[in-house]
Amino acid sequence: MDFEKIIELKENAIKTYIPIIRDDLIKFLKEYFVKNNVKKVLEIGSAIGYSSIVMASFSSDIHIDTIERDSILALNAISNIKDFGLENQINLINADALTLELDTNNKYDLIFIDASKTKYIDFFNKYKTYLNNNGSIISDNMNLHDVTNMEFSKRKQRLRKKINEYIAFLNNLTSYKTTYMLNIGDGIAISVLNDEFNN
Ligand SMILES: C[S@@+](CC[C@H](N)C(=O)[O-])C[C@H]1O[C@@H](n2cnc3c(N)ncnc32)[C@H](O)[C@@H]1O
Repeated sequence: MDFEKIIELKENAIKTYIPIIRDDLIKFLKEYFVKNNVKKVLEIGSAIGYSSIVMASFSSDIHIDTIERDSILALNAISNIKDFGLENQINLINADALTLELDTNNKYDLIFIDASKTKYIDFFNKYKTYLNNNGSIISDNMNLHDVTNMEFSKRKQRLRKKINEYIAFLNNLTSYKTTYMLNIGDGIAISVLNDEFNN
């Protein structure tokens, strides 16, 4: 993996105001992948492909399906994925994750939710059936750190309300246990099936 190129991609994203995962989340995920033998990933929210490129670079036997609804970003991501020679590991799906019908045979060790913050409950409900036994759903943006002070307004309050609703939703699930690590990334939630629901 060409680290200089990764840094260049990251700097381009920052320059163009495209929100991408933070370095500490990358470090966490790298360890998490090894510890939990994560090989198949579904990502909701690719943007320019930065996080999927980084995750694919952890190991050549990791495969990622990543969904991006914005066509321009999706084209950009495809070009970046090619540029890194990762076409065999990353499958970019240009679609709205809320309406996409994935093959029901697809199963993932990890589902990473990093898309529209107002739709997290819908993403969770729609995609939880694609999770392998012992798989997990990691949701980023629990802290909403990426909303700037300039936007401290109705938009920020609405997003915060939505994320709070999502946290309440996760906490009420009897079939999943969720752990929060608010000091990582923009605050992550890790949801795993409770043992009695795992077979
Ligand atoms: C925070 S960015 C993703 C950043 C990326 N995971 C990374 O770290 O490099 C969120 C992306 O989710 C996309 N998105 C939002 N809602 C979506 C949906 N319903 N389906 C697919 N993509 C969506 C947005 O277009 C945006 O590009």
